[in-house]
Amino acid sequence: MDMNIGVIKGDGIGPEIVEEAMKVLDQVAKVYGHTISYTQLLMGGASIDVAGVPLTEATLAAAKASDAVLMGSIGGDAKTSPWYQLEPSRRPEAGLLQLRKGLNLFANLRPAVLYEELKGACPLKEEIADRGFDLMIMRELTGGLYFGKRSTEEIDGVVTAKDELTYNENEIRRIARRGFDIAMKRRKKVTSVDKANVLDSSRLWRKIVEEVAADYPEVELEHMLVDNCAMQLVKDPAQFDVILTENMFGDILSDEASMVTGSIGMLASASLNDTKFGLYEPSGGSAPDIAGQGIANPIATILSAAMMLRFSFDLDKEADAIEAAVAAVLKDGYRTIDIMSDGRKQIGTAEMGDRICSYIK
Ligand code: IPM
Ligand code: MG
Repeated sequence: MDMNIGVIKGDGIGPEIVEEAMKVLDQVAKVYGHTISYTQLLMGGASIDVAGVPLTEATLAAAKASDAVLMGSIGGDAKTSPWYQLEPSRRPEAGLLQLRKGLNLFANLRPAVLYEELKGACPLKEEIADRGFDLMIMRELTGGLYFGKRSTEEIDGVVTAKDELTYNENEIRRIARRGFDIAMKRRKKVTSVDKANVLDSSRLWRKIVEEVAADYPEVELEHMLVDNCAMQLVKDPAQFDVILTENMFGDILSDEASMVTGSIGMLASASLNDTKFGLYEPSGGSAPDIAGQGIANPIATILSAAMMLRFSFDLDKEADAIEAAVAAVLKDGYRTIDIMSDGRKQIGTAEMGDRICSYIK
């Protein structure tokens, strides 16, 4: 297969971790007989430095023209980086939101799996970690608070900031369908997470999710309030299969879910629209504090590349090979510093990529 992949290395640790994911993709291409052409795209701080804005029309068009986009991470240190002297709509994060919206990437899949080998890095009590977990957060990505109207103004002499939270039934329906579709391929359970005891948007969410559920009689549906979900994720993560939720709740819960897997450096993600196109990126940030040191964990990005092969190219065998290689390297005791524990061998970013490649033959 010929794959035309857009690459956004981004800021901070982005370039280092993407480098390793490309290494792994190239190894897969070599072993399984595919060809990959990469188009480098600028987004976030790297784009601000060159073009003055975090996402240009040309980059958006080039992203659209590719089969899929692999991304590292964007953004810098908000205290010291000049990017954060700019008005909010010109900062690195705005580029990511424009890209998600511009490509209509409404479905964000964030799998959180506790690897057998990483149980030692899991911060939960031993008896909880021992049970393991394998859950998928299905986060709505183009609606809600992130894309509502905002303003900061003086009202009656008091400075007042406003962020609007809007969802319409169609936006809810399409993400709910995705959630149930994924559940059908997994353990057939959906936990829809909302704040229906307070928010109108959550009450509509619940109603539409129930309507969609009627089309999936095999899938068990439960509703859970978001505060309770935050608690259940550390109390008993094994209870979850698919967590279906809106944009902001999904942002928060996915960071929490990643941490209970041991490290945010392990959490992959796919952002999808109605076509085969997808944007694949680790769920973690650009970690400017460790950028350039060669110690960042590239596994989340490598696993995101596996998701790309699976979802955008239907290359399940190849995706399986990457996932198996990651598990094998962990089994052999190799760890980046974020998942390091006693008796394991600490290695850097590039060596982690090399070792994962060595298992793909
Ligand atoms: C994420 C990130 C982004 C988000 C930021 C960088 C805007 O935290 O992908 O989870 O909030 O969606
Ligand atoms: Mg986040």
